[in-house]
Amino acid sequence: MEKKNKESFGSKFGIIAAAAGSAIGLGNIYRFPCEAGANGGGAFFIVYLAIVLFMGLPLMVTEFVIGRRSGKNPVGAFKSLAPGHKGWARLGYLGVICSFLILAFYCTVAGWTIDAVWKAITNYYHGKDLATVQFGFDSLKEETWQPIICEAVFVFLTAFIIIKGVTKGIEKYSKILMPILLGILIILGIKALTLPGAAEGVKFFLKPDFSKINGTVVVNALGQAFFSLSIGMGILITYGSYIAKNDNLTSTAFSVCICDTIIAILAGIVIFPAAFSFGITPEAGDSLAFVTLPMLFNQMAGGYFFCLFFFVLLTIAALTSSISLLEAPVLYFTEELGISRKKATTYSAIGVFVLCIIASLSLHSDTCLKIGSFSFFNLLDYITATFLMTIGGLLTVIFLGWKMKKEDFYDEFTNDNTVNMRLRKAMYFIIKYISPLAITVILITQFIK
Ligand code: PHE
Repeated sequence: MEKKNKESFGSKFGIIAAAAGSAIGLGNIYRFPCEAGANGGGAFFIVYLAIVLFMGLPLMVTEFVIGRRSGKNPVGAFKSLAPGHKGWARLGYLGVICSFLILAFYCTVAGWTIDAVWKAITNYYHGKDLATVQFGFDSLKEETWQPIICEAVFVFLTAFIIIKGVTKGIEKYSKILMPILLGILIILGIKALTLPGAAEGVKFFLKPDFSKINGTVVVNALGQAFFSLSIGMGILITYGSYIAKNDNLTSTAFSVCICDTIIAILAGIVIFPAAFSFGITPEAGDSLAFVTLPMLFNQMAGGYFFCLFFFVLLTIAALTSSISLLEAPVLYFTEELGISRKKATTYSAIGVFVLCIIASLSLHSDTCLKIGSFSFFNLLDYITATFLMTIGGLLTVIFLGWKMKKEDFYDEFTNDNTVNMRLRKAMYFIIKYISPLAITVILITQFIK
């Protein structure tokens, strides 16, 4: 296989840090509690875990294999691994489009995070009661300029890091900062669990009520797992193309899944006990993160600093995800269309920003930017996570199982017969039969409904 001479990630820890950086973000701390809260808590959680293990992990391995084998961005990867089957390249385009749509939604939420950093700096939350903090957050969504300015800052930061380049940009920041975020979450968890009434929240989040599991819970858990792990849209194909030849792809993917899942679980352990203690309902959606957490900091010794650190780190976690999202179109424009990196980044960032403005305006209560009861913002979130990413993931496993040569998979998966020899057949079987079947069944049940 002809390979382009590409920069590889400096170390194994570097690629895990970067892929975990893509995975860990607002999806864990903002979106996961929203979904768990809306889908019955424990019932959702158990389904989510099963999906991460049996579908998320194999799909992540699939993307790494395709990426490293081809050494290319998703569009180029599908073209070069299945020559003569032009249609598959469209799967790469799907990922590029999906990145844009997710970014628009993502940068809106990241804008709220930056607003929270500002509120933390100015000690806005100090001494405020629940109703006031809630009112402050609701009014932010009704504002025009404040969210747009925060989004602009975030989009700019993302583009700035991208222009600086892959290893230098991504690796350097994510390595040091994610462990600190983990540390703060643990401290927050301890505090949340000691609040009065916290036990109810723990029960809601961790005690599986199997009677609550239904098609909607499963499809939402599937979407959340793909969103949180950054899979199903070729981003990890791109990352795979940077992984060194002797790295063990399975253990890398496993580490990333574990890190991502631990952060999501911790977010649940912080947010639900605190929310129950303060009287915020689990269906509160956006407020779960953006109202519960400030209220929690208010109760803590050193709350000012915890609040500030936390939201700064959350912004950085969001950045390491958004750079991976923006990297997808940028790499496509540079590798497939021959545009310079700087130009590709600038144009993509402007496109994202325009969509992002529409998304944030669509949250105004008097907006006309909605379809039925769905605002443009919700629509972006719903369409990408529930459909585009899951369909993308489905087609990716089908590609590996049915279009790519089995030997190519084995060579790449085992690093030319040096690792994972016993696992390769089972993994191939899961990727070829189990994953496509499971995803199809879940999607079809939902479509029929
Ligand atoms: N996984 C990221 C998060 O949890 C979001 C993301 C989705 C990043 C899709 C890349 C691709 O925040």
